[in-house]
Amino acid sequence: MKSKSQHKLGPQTQAIHGGEPNRRGVNGPIVTEIIRSSTFTFSSTEEMKLWAEGKNKAYIYTRYGNPTLSVAEKKIAALEGAEAAVVTASGMAAISSALLAALRAGDEVITTAQTYGGTYRLMRDVFPNMGITVRQVGTDLAGIEDLVTPRSKVLYIETPTNPTLRVVDIHKAVAFAKKHKLVSIIDNTFATPVLQNPIALGYDMVVHSATKALAGHSDIIAGVAVGNSNWMERVRHMIIYLGGSMDPGAAYLLIRGVKTLGVRVERQCENAMAVAKFLEKHPKVERVHYPGLKSHEDHKLARKQMRGFGGMLAFDMKGGLPAARRFCDRVRLFLLAASLGGVESLVILPIYSSHYNMTIEELRRAGFQFMRALRVLGIIMRGNVERYVVLGANGLQFFLQADGDALGVQNVGFRKNQCKRVRRKTVDRIGRTQLARHRLRGVAPGFRAGVILRGRGYGLGFHEQDRERLLHGHSPPEFHG
Ligand SMILES: Cc1ncc(COP(=O)(O)O)c(C=O)c1O
Repeated sequence: MKSKSQHKLGPQTQAIHGGEPNRRGVNGPIVTEIIRSSTFTFSSTEEMKLWAEGKNKAYIYTRYGNPTLSVAEKKIAALEGAEAAVVTASGMAAISSALLAALRAGDEVITTAQTYGGTYRLMRDVFPNMGITVRQVGTDLAGIEDLVTPRSKVLYIETPTNPTLRVVDIHKAVAFAKKHKLVSIIDNTFATPVLQNPIALGYDMVVHSATKALAGHSDIIAGVAVGNSNWMERVRHMIIYLGGSMDPGAAYLLIRGVKTLGVRVERQCENAMAVAKFLEKHPKVERVHYPGLKSHEDHKLARKQMRGFGGMLAFDMKGGLPAARRFCDRVRLFLLAASLGGVESLVILPIYSSHYNMTIEELRRAGFQFMRALRVLGIIMRGNVERYVVLGANGLQFFLQADGDALGVQNVGFRKNQCKRVRRKTVDRIGRTQLARHRLRGVAPGFRAGVILRGRGYGLGFHEQDRERLLHGHSPPEFHG
């Protein structure tokens, strides 16, 4: 005879049947109904009173909960192996609500420096105003113990990371959180519950941009947080307070998407591996970032903790930004659009989308190498260069906007032997004299700029405070991802 556990439904089966009402009998619909009602009736004021006293779990108003949303929540909780889930209007609603459910003024959060740009900017631009301190650690978690203070409250990680596909050791991270009694939260968007299940390892909460693989068809913005009932109650309250509730129509599409998540992710992993191997051999590609490749720095770790390597990859083109732009502008079949996890293949430059509005130092910490980070400056100038000076040598071009709005660098990629030549000719001669002259002519009033040499290449260097002003104070308004 089979034991009870052998009869337990697997997560993919639960994704199809979980949370659904009994669908047997005559005339029963197979698919979930969309309860497109903002509000729900009560049969008496006595029932309403019980609800207000927390003694009755009735639906009252869709921001608080809705039968269609509940089906989505039960399916995703089952997939993640969690007690409960809360679906939200977006991934960012899930992330901010989960974090705010655990944090209050005076608390500190320790986070990987590499996260989705929106999460990073939330912690950079909003949390300090709420009295929440953010401390960052690399994806290897080196030195994380040094970041702990008596005020540390939350450990927040994302793995694999957007967009550099670095992998964080999820066992090590949760052990650290437990040791220091931190609330552990992980963004599982890139891996999906098909490839890793952090709740089983002891994470308190998992968050997703359900816009991506969970929904899987690029037709909704959605999010979800999962965890135990206690944490989900707190997240739900944040959603009720802040208003990031999901629409029932979106919940229906999320439910439909979740049913095929398993097969889609499997195929996406296969396809991504094939593309990664192809690109790795391509003469125009400098480097491929895909954890499934042996050449990836976190390949062994990914093998250890993931059941597949995911449907996302990144790669650096030889020839820098111009080459990358040419590729994106000319690529066929792949669509030039932000997001991931849908059935279409998409291509994007992260510095134009998820990682806009970040300084060189921030990008460097987020895993962009210096040469790649520099390309951002070129992008900041996009369409915004009215009058500019080009100082060229051996394909190296510096663009200075003449009216002082922004400074940028483009096409800084060159080889080692060119370095010497450029250093002699450009930095010593053109660099110091021309740049100084333009500065004096008011190219960028008050900004101190100069050519600097770092590592493999050159860049246009700014004083720290100037760089902040340049990158934050003067980003073109259309520059949103
Ligand atoms: C890893 C990751 N987390 C969170 C988000 C934010 O999700 P949403 O756009 O649904 O708010 C994104 C969006 O790209 C993401 O890539």
